[in-house]
Amino acid sequence: MDNGWEASAGAWLRELGATGDFARRAVLDAPMLARVRAARPSRALDIGCGEGRFCRMMAVEGIVTTGLDPTERLLAEARARHPEGHYVRGRAEALPFPDAGFDLVVSYLSLIDIDDTEQAVAEMVRVLQPGGRLLVANLSGIASAGVAPGWAETADGRTGWLIDRYFEARADWVEWRGVRIRNWHRPLADYMTAFLRHGLTLRHFEEPRPAGETDARSTRYRGIPMFVILEWGKP
Ligand SMILES: C[S@@+](CC[C@H](N)C(=O)[O-])C[C@H]1O[C@@H](n2cnc3c(N)ncnc32)[C@H](O)[C@@H]1O
Repeated sequence: MDNGWEASAGAWLRELGATGDFARRAVLDAPMLARVRAARPSRALDIGCGEGRFCRMMAVEGIVTTGLDPTERLLAEARARHPEGHYVRGRAEALPFPDAGFDLVVSYLSLIDIDDTEQAVAEMVRVLQPGGRLLVANLSGIASAGVAPGWAETADGRTGWLIDRYFEARADWVEWRGVRIRNWHRPLADYMTAFLRHGLTLRHFEEPRPAGETDARSTRYRGIPMFVILEWGKP
């Protein structure tokens, strides 16, 4: 089923701009890059690479990087911004790569866009070589279980995040500034079970927060875990 990405690509590119949105710039890029540097991979696959920003960041580290995405317009942008890069059209559920070809597989905020995570995790593990790492940044279950209006004032004047039906996996359409996409909410246990079922070993877990900034958005992002980073090892 169409999840809105092709039609939303233009608005998404405006949203990211040249340097990435707040979540990437202020919260996720630094800890994700730190994990990449620690793993010291030579061949990385970025699943759901979008316009390729994390591929470009890994390429700067000297890593041979392949980006995969189903959205043609985002892939065209990735190729234009990084002509020497390797960008392939495809879906996480059916990776067009042979077994064990990569020593790092990355999913940077793409799991919530993928319909069949069981199949996607099976594919991620298949293309990873033994001893390789799977590095995942995902929206936290607390963030993805949010219900409108999201941030709301509590009776005693504080700001809280509204969530409901946490344990109910579901795909909902979300809209902002011209982007209209279908995102999955799944409880954390669903993802953990899928990774564990495929024999992976958890090497690192983190709930990253914005460092330094004191503006209202950063303060809110320090109040609840909006994101998780998980690094898995393939035995
Ligand atoms: C939130 S964007 C993240 C893009 C990029 N990783 C980044 O952080 O800028 C999610 C991406 O997942 C892609 N996507 C959607 N369905 C997918 C699927 N079944 N397999 C792989 N990628 C998918 C979308 O095209 C989109 O580029």
